[in-house]
Amino acid sequence: MELHWILWLNFLENTSKNHNILSVFNLYDLSMDQNTILQEFSTITTKEQLTETYQKYLGKNGLLSAELKNLASLSLEEKKEKGKKLTDLRQSIEEIFEKKEKEFLLDEVNELLQKDAVDLFVPAKTLEEGYFSLSAKTRRETEEIAQSMGFIVEMGNEVVTKFENFESVNIPITHPATEMHDTIYVDKKDERGENYVLRTHTSSAQNYILRKYGAPVKAVVPGKTYRFDEMDATHDVMFYQFEGIYVDKNISMANFKDVLTTFLTMILEKEVEIRMRPGYFPFVEPGVEVDARYEYYNMKTGKKELSNWIEILGAGMIHENVLKAADINPEEGRTGFAFGLGLTRMVAVKYGIKDIRLFTNGDLRFSHSF
Ligand code: PHE
Repeated sequence: MELHWILWLNFLENTSKNHNILSVFNLYDLSMDQNTILQEFSTITTKEQLTETYQKYLGKNGLLSAELKNLASLSLEEKKEKGKKLTDLRQSIEEIFEKKEKEFLLDEVNELLQKDAVDLFVPAKTLEEGYFSLSAKTRRETEEIAQSMGFIVEMGNEVVTKFENFESVNIPITHPATEMHDTIYVDKKDERGENYVLRTHTSSAQNYILRKYGAPVKAVVPGKTYRFDEMDATHDVMFYQFEGIYVDKNISMANFKDVLTTFLTMILEKEVEIRMRPGYFPFVEPGVEVDARYEYYNMKTGKKELSNWIEILGAGMIHENVLKAADINPEEGRTGFAFGLGLTRMVAVKYGIKDIRLFTNGDLRFSHSF
């Protein structure tokens, strides 16, 4: 029998008994069949609606609850029949309520998941591998080449005393040569009460090395040097130098030429020719400026050609005052050569870089391209 039918009967019965008038009217409202009620539940879209609808039927004062209570007043026969219908209906309502409730809970969970979504299927961001800047890369390669030729690698300090930077390499503080290097001073004083300086050349490490190892010694000092210079495509306040010193018995310019040619050939990875011009540096005697050129393949002409001469370093036979300043006695036949290679310059030449500011401006596209 259809629900409204049952309810209608119920209504009549109750009215006749004049019993529980309120619930009778409720029952009247409940004149709908099971499908209609379930339909009502299935169209619910909010949690609040669900509560309301549940309360409407199965709340304390719900339509169905009242009806269930009424069962008690019915005859055994009626109880059986209506009781079953009503409890079936109650069960159906409970079922659809639970189903709906689950839907809302699921929605809530989904919403939460959406908010703190960790999507495990999104491809991971690839980690960028670190890499050396071009200067660092070349410095390291150059160090290895020097080591393969028997040189010790020393770093020296970037902040040095005026003694180290100038006097120890035979540049009197008052000497005009100090003006060759526009020096950057540090706001801190050394033992002699003089301001420290940022080394203007890696020659500032010569004294330290000669003292540390004595003679014979073969060492290189790669590193940053600083000069107060106007910056442009070929000048920077910081640039890399690569110092070399070789002190032993009877070292000559011939040794120097040989060592340097081998060294440069390995660095530039090209057959290198060098030429020496007289040059003045207070810490060498004689002093030279060294130019290098190499053979390269000219695609325009399709021939092997020689590059222009590139001024690449200063060098010479170590001045005896430099040895003396390090307590090495030149009388004992110790001689040596020193050279100071402009590493930044050389990297620029090797890789055809027109503006050395690219080395330090932090543009990763530049570092990436090598
Ligand atoms: N220190 C010199 C410079 O900075 C280079 C140099 C080093 C010259 C060693 C001679 C010997 O220009």
